[in-house]
Formats: sequence, C-alpha cells, structure tokens
Amino acid sequence: MIQEKVAQTTASASGVVPTLLALRGVGKVFSNGVTALSDVNLTIREGDFLSLLGPSGCGKSTALRLIAGLSTPTSGVLDWRADGSLDRSNIGFVFQEPTLLPWASVFDNVWLPLRLKGVSRAKAAPAVMEMLARVHLTSVENAVPRELSGGMKMRVSIARAMVTKPRVLLMDEPFAALDEITRFKLNNDLLELWQDERFTVVFVTHSVFESVFLSNRVVVMAARPGRVFDELAIEASYPRDEAFRTSPDYAALCRQTSDVLINAINSTAGAHHDGH
Ligand SMILES: Nc1ncnc2c1ncn2[C@@H]1O[C@H](COP(=O)(O)OP(=O)(O)O)[C@@H](O)[C@H]1O
Ligand SMILES: [Mg+2]
Repeated sequence: MIQEKVAQTTASASGVVPTLLALRGVGKVFSNGVTALSDVNLTIREGDFLSLLGPSGCGKSTALRLIAGLSTPTSGVLDWRADGSLDRSNIGFVFQEPTLLPWASVFDNVWLPLRLKGVSRAKAAPAVMEMLARVHLTSVENAVPRELSGGMKMRVSIARAMVTKPRVLLMDEPFAALDEITRFKLNNDLLELWQDERFTVVFVTHSVFESVFLSNRVVVMAARPGRVFDELAIEASYPRDEAFRTSPDYAALCRQTSDVLINAINSTAGAHHDGH
C-alpha cells in the first residue's frame, strides 16, 4: 500500500529535485557557552515540506533563525543555491505569536511587507485580496486583530508572510497555541496553499502527528547538544486530507516517527547519564 504511493510523492521520491539550501557542519555556540547546534548537516530541496521535530531546547528555533539569516553560525556554512535567485526577500517567516499590528486592519497587516517595499495600498490590493481569499479571510479584511480568534490571527500572519510570494516559508511552531480543531483546519489549508504555490517549507514542531501529516521529510533532532538525530521520508501521497488523518498508513507513519523521537530523547538522557 505504502509502496504504491511512493511514485506519487513529491520531492522525496525523486533524486532530480534541485537543492535549495545545504547546511554543512553547522554549529551555533551562544556567548553563554550553550551549544545550541552541533555539526548539523541537512539538505533542503526545492519544494520540500520539511519538518524539524524534536523536544524543547534541541535547537529548532536556532536552526530556523540561521536559515532566515537572523543569526549567523559559529561553525560550518549555509550553502544557498548559487544561481542568485534567492535572497532574504524570498523568505517568509511565521512565528508562534502572530505579532500583528494591533491598530491596523487585517488588510493593512497583510499589506505591510509590500508597503515596506514601497508598494502603495491601491497597487497592493490585488495581491492582498488574493492572499486573504487563500486563507479564507476575505470577509474580515476591515477587522482589527482583537476582533479575531487565535486561528484567524494565525491566518493573517500566514497571509502576511506569503503576500510577497516567497520561495521559502519558515514556520516556528505556528499552530502550537491553537485548539486541535483549529489546528487541523490550518494544517489542511496550509497544505492546500503549498500544493498550489509550490514553495519550500521548513516547519518547526514538537508534534509527531502534525509533522507526519504535513511533511514529505521529518528531521528528528536531539538536545544537549542540539543536533540532527535521524531523518524519515514520509512516503504518503498528497493531497492529504481528513481520510489520510484517520488512515492506518498515517497511524503507522506516526508510530514509526514517534519511535525515532523517543530514541532521540533517550539518546540525550543517556549522554546526560554518562556525564555523571
Ligand atoms: N540567544 C540565546 N542565548 C543563549 N542561549 C540560547 C539563546 N537562544 C537559545 N538558547 C539556548 O539554545 C538551546 C536551543 O534553543 P532553541 O533553538 O530555542 O530550541 P528549541 O526551539 O528546539 O526549543 C537551548 O538550550 C536554549 O536555552
Ligand atoms: Mg523553539
């Protein structure tokens, strides 16, 4: 069953998908002496939906900030594809907190990145309205953030990140604060957007279920020091919908991923023990 689906999967099934970014021997030691990341080797391919899965403190956010260029590694390199087609403006970032401008309307919040590039409100309108439609927020374009639910605020945040059509979307536990039903809906909508627009996603989560549902690749990380522990290919075809969420294939993939995560966590406990 799973075997048949391999041919239909995206990037992971094909060796010809171009590399977008390679992390080579990347380490990050903070000035307080904490080794947040140690010798991370990771290749991100064009069109990947790649999740970084791991316990709190294993360096997921640090890795994402390095990829975003918000921080620099203390060792190793980040090798972007050398065709000059990618720079910081091609990267969108969504954090767990939606960080919207409280006094500005939904429309104006989504307009912001274009406004910072000098695009007028009128000129930006088609792109803003298209993104609002994509995240199902057309009817609240004039509302301000305090009038919105947590899920709607997150939708605004996604629309704002995507309005410039970035090639890469970095997401740091974006749905962790939402209730389960809302989270499932946003998972579905994010996948739909990704399938239509074909950007690359690096998604940070500590949820096995979420990482398996969304990703074609799950990179499992371990802590102390933060490092890549293992990687799993999630060989299930897209589109993935509610039927997939309740399928035996999904359950099996979650169990497999969960086992790897438990090993990753135990590997840290072991290292800690050895230190005594
Ligand atoms: N700016 C910083 N200064 C010092 N230590 C930090 C800083 N940011 C993160 N850390 C430490 O680095 C480790 C990894 O943090 P982080 O990347 O936030 O992990 P995660 O996102 O997986 O929870 C943790 O031990 C954290 O306390
Ligand atoms: Mg984090």
